[in-house]
Amino acid sequence: MKTVSLTIDGKKITASEGEKLLWAALDNGIYIPNLCALRDNSEPMAACRLCFVEVEGKEEPVTACTEGVSEDMVVNTKGEKALRLARSGFELLMTSQLVDCAHCAKSGSCELQKIAHHLKIKLKSKRFRKLVRELPIDDSCPIFIYDPNRCVLCGRCVWVCRERLGIGVLGFAHRGFKRVVTTFGGEPIGESRCQECGECVTVCPTGALVFKDSKEKT
Ligand code: FES
Repeated sequence: MKTVSLTIDGKKITASEGEKLLWAALDNGIYIPNLCALRDNSEPMAACRLCFVEVEGKEEPVTACTEGVSEDMVVNTKGEKALRLARSGFELLMTSQLVDCAHCAKSGSCELQKIAHHLKIKLKSKRFRKLVRELPIDDSCPIFIYDPNRCVLCGRCVWVCRERLGIGVLGFAHRGFKRVVTTFGGEPIGESRCQECGECVTVCPTGALVFKDSKEKT
């Protein structure tokens, strides 16, 4: 595959032509906030709307997970327009998110903490009214626990279960504020066709899916 040269935040890098900007940046040590992207998903969901960057010649910021790299591309991940979009998106996302890092097994490796730090904003926004749901925790699976209150609806687990593994136990149900990742008919995961591979836990960026043996903080 052809290699192209581009510049991100003043740093010259090379990448395979057509590779998504997000992966080219991350592979070169340039962080761009992201929650929903997965490297092996060639049709990015672009659901979280956090990976905005500015590209020279384009009027509006673009999502780095959907934008392919090209020769001589000049990218700015720190532009005010892009950061404003990412910050607003993140703050809105956090309005329905349980923030209880002291009791979360993912604390320290949670993508939400990393993004908040990167965007220089707090996990608990004062700008928007908090709308926390109180959904039951599912610990019916022998190897992991699912806490929907910590789920950001990024869709990674759904995609991995369905597309990467071809199982399809997890899916989305309902719309709007009630939208949730669940099993068919809402049955407990332990009673579903789940094969306990744990791939969904591995790709979950938050404390929504955690292995039982890593749950020491709860
Ligand atoms: S990572 Fe690009 S929109 Fe979610």
